[in-house]
Amino acid sequence: MLLEVQDLGKSYDAPRRRNKAATDATSGTPRALSGVSFTAGQGEFITVIGPSGAGKSTLLRCLNRLIEPTDGVINFNGRDITHLPNGRLRKVRREIAMIFQNYNLVYRLTAIQNVLHGRLGYKNALAGSLGLYTEDEKARAFELLDEVGLGEFAYRRADQLSGGQKQRVGIARSLMQDPKVMLCDEPIASLDPKSSRMVMETLRRLTRERGITCIVNLHQVDFALEYSDRIIGLRAGEKVFEGTADETTPAVIRSIYEGDAEVMVDVPVEMPEAAGSPIEAGAFAAEPATGGAQ
Ligand SMILES: Nc1ncnc2c1ncn2[C@@H]1O[C@H](COP(=O)(O)OP(=O)(O)O)[C@@H](O)[C@H]1O
Ligand SMILES: [Mg+2]
Repeated sequence: MLLEVQDLGKSYDAPRRRNKAATDATSGTPRALSGVSFTAGQGEFITVIGPSGAGKSTLLRCLNRLIEPTDGVINFNGRDITHLPNGRLRKVRREIAMIFQNYNLVYRLTAIQNVLHGRLGYKNALAGSLGLYTEDEKARAFELLDEVGLGEFAYRRADQLSGGQKQRVGIARSLMQDPKVMLCDEPIASLDPKSSRMVMETLRRLTRERGITCIVNLHQVDFALEYSDRIIGLRAGEKVFEGTADETTPAVIRSIYEGDAEVMVDVPVEMPEAAGSPIEAGAFAAEPATGGAQ
C-alpha cells in the first residue's frame, strides 16, 4: 500500500515530545485530529469531506509533515516517515506534492516559470536561485502545461490568469516534482462551478493516466460524490465514515455535517433515482465558496 495512516492524532497545544497522557490531561482545547486511520493505494482518488474545523487541513498537512502529528504512524511507500528528521524530508516532500486553495504561485512570473519551480526540490540552492533549468526540464514544463490545457498561456504572467487557470498551473508545477501522491487542500473552494469541474477532471485524469494518488479536501459534497473512488468523512477530528460514493448516502452526509446549518438545509432525504448519477452541481454544497475566483 502506498500510504498507510494509523491512529493519527494532532493536538496543536501539545508541546512536541510530551507524552499523550500528559497532553490530554493538561489540554483545554479538543484535539484537531484523533485516531484517524486509512490507507491509500496507487492511483486512487480519495476525497475528505467534513464541516469547517473538522480537521481536513490538519490531516493533509500531517501527511507530508508540514505539521508534526502528535501521535500515530505514517507509512509512505514502505517506509515510516512519522519521525523522519527534517533534513531527510526533502525527498518525501518531492514525492508528496501539495496543492492549495490559493494556488501559491509567484504572480510576477510567467506560467512556465511557475511550472519550472516544481523542479526546485531537485536542485541545489544556487542553481535554483539562478533559475538554471536543463533543456529537458523546460521541454517537460511545456508538455505539462499542455497537458493541463494551458499550452498557449506559457508566457502569460500568473497574475493575468483566471482562478481555474492558476490552479491548473499549480497542478502542472506539482507534476514537475514527479509526485506519487498529490494532496489537494480545497483546490476548488475559490472557483466557479465550470472551473471547478476542469480542475477536478484534471486531477482525476492524473490518477487514471499516471497512477498518481490524489487525496482531496472538499467542501463541495456534490463534487466528492461525482469524482471519488472513496470518500472519508471527518467530524471533530475523527474519521466518522469511509466508503464509496454510492455508500455515501444522504443519511451519511447528514451525520457527517450534523449541526452544520449550511449543509443541513440542502441535503435531500432520498438519493436521486440512479445511484451514482451526476448530481446537480451545488445541491450538496457544504459551504459557499470563500471569495470569488481571483
Ligand atoms: N495552527 C493552528 N493552531 C491552533 N489550532 C489550529 C491550527 N490550525 C487548525 N487549528 C484547529 O484545529 C481544528 C481543525 O482545523 P482544520 O484542520 O483547519 O479543519 P478544516 O480544514 O476541516 O476546516 C480546528 O479546531 C482549528 O481551529
Ligand atoms: Mg481546511
